[in-house]
Amino acid sequence: MQWRRRHCCAHAAKFISLLSLLGLLVFLVHQVWLPKLTGTPWWKGHPVVYGGGELHPARPKWNLSAPHSAWRFVIVPQQRFDANVSSPEKEGVSSRQGDPSFENTPAANASQSAEGALRSAITLGPFPYVINEPDKCADGRPAPFLVLLISSEARQVEARNAIRQTWGNESVAPALGIVRLFLLGKNEGELGLLQQKMLEAESRRYGDIVQQDFLDSYKNLTIKTLMGMNWVASHCPEAGYVMKTDSDMFVNTEYLIYKLLRPELKLKNNYFTGNNMRGFAPNRNKNSKWYMPPELYPGEKYPTFCSGTGYVFSGDLARKIYRASLRIRQLHLEDVFVGICLAKLRVEPTPPPNEFLFNHWRVSYSSCKYSHLITSHGFHPNEILKYWHHLQSNKHNACINTLRAGRTHSNRMNRERPAA
Ligand SMILES: *[C@@H]1O[C@H](CO)[C@@H](O)[C@H](O)[C@H]1NC(C)=O
Ligand SMILES: *[C@@H]1O[C@H](CO)[C@@H](O)[C@H](O)[C@H]1NC(C)=O
Ligand SMILES: *[C@@H]1O[C@H](CO)[C@@H](O)[C@H](O)[C@H]1NC(C)=O
Ligand SMILES: *[C@@H]1O[C@H](CO)[C@@H](O)[C@H](O)[C@H]1NC(C)=O
Ligand SMILES: *[C@@H]1O[C@H](CO)[C@@H](O)[C@H](O)[C@H]1NC(C)=O
Repeated sequence: MQWRRRHCCAHAAKFISLLSLLGLLVFLVHQVWLPKLTGTPWWKGHPVVYGGGELHPARPKWNLSAPHSAWRFVIVPQQRFDANVSSPEKEGVSSRQGDPSFENTPAANASQSAEGALRSAITLGPFPYVINEPDKCADGRPAPFLVLLISSEARQVEARNAIRQTWGNESVAPALGIVRLFLLGKNEGELGLLQQKMLEAESRRYGDIVQQDFLDSYKNLTIKTLMGMNWVASHCPEAGYVMKTDSDMFVNTEYLIYKLLRPELKLKNNYFTGNNMRGFAPNRNKNSKWYMPPELYPGEKYPTFCSGTGYVFSGDLARKIYRASLRIRQLHLEDVFVGICLAKLRVEPTPPPNEFLFNHWRVSYSSCKYSHLITSHGFHPNEILKYWHHLQSNKHNACINTLRAGRTHSNRMNRERPAA
């Protein structure tokens, strides 16, 4: 009997460890392998909720029951936010009525004492330029229609070269004027010194690098973006529009210019658009990349902001956002922070004409889809080259094959998993 019981327990233990192994396997498949297939690693893609148990939109934007959504949304165990999803947007309201200054909201007040140290650490800027292109915009030419600010890191040489040859080529719209700038901070150590030498050579060759003396880290992305805003404000204040994006993005610059911004129209003011993230709650999970400490941002909801993978704004806003930023506690989530600056300025991001234009995930490639979108996220430099060239040679009949295949316009643009 004794022996039997022990025997059986040993079996049970084996069974349990087998079960946990299986669990681990399922977890890995969902968290690592599947997302890799889709090109959007779970630690990278901007999820549906600002960063939450990947996303818990207060107001769901997509049809969650549609088949193509399922794989994206079920991945991670949902985390509960204490955001009161039914209440109106608090930040938005408080900044639109009465005192527009965000610091005077109760939320901001509550945290001010707690983040004293952090604040002084972050607002030391502006940092001095290490590499600058003060005359890139002047030189007697008319002001450029579009400035591309591309967040980059020293090691991403290949990506910069791919972008120079493709969507960031300043001759994409030669008559209008495009200015391309890569934004960088500095790296430390011997590798940093080596990278710095190479970066300076790259800058001499292409004249498209802007760098300030701050540590180039994910948490310093806000500094990087503000450096770009400040550059436009001081060296290119007449620029028509500005796009801020990343170096792992595919951007259909032509579509952006001719279909969205439309050079034939009068330039807009106070215009800001991109992938609008409305009603998102701060992520309170300390292990998340999108974690927001309640001391830094006690509010229950962020004001509407646009995913940092690609947003577009009128040139006048560069100065306004930069100046607003000086009076607001900096947050490391640069897109959220820019959204707070906009709320303070009482500029509401404009929803893009359709929800498929700005994608902060990766849209599987087809010339038809890519000729009708502006951003898609998560590309190796080689893919940027490959898809760009394919699109260039197919853009005029991009959708013919698709139509022949009997697909409708509406499902053309659905997000799909790219072929592995
Ligand atoms: C959502 O998708 C499902 C399945 O494709 C469809 O039956 C349903 O009508 C859709 N709902 C809306 C609101 O689009
Ligand atoms: C959520 O907000 C609604 C409307 O403002 C309010 O009636 C309700 O009591 C709130 N619920 C919680 C749990 O705060
Ligand atoms: C925030 O604090 C300041 C002084 O520190 C005070 O004058 C102001 O009324 C407070 N605002 C709110 C909304 O509590
Ligand atoms: C940019 O485009 C022009 C015109 O199509 C081309 O001549 C030039 O080589 C391109 N630049 C790069 C860096 O590929
Ligand atoms: C941001 O850059 C500053 C200046 O180089 C540096 O002191 C700080 O540690 C950086 N912050 C992070 C979180 O990397």
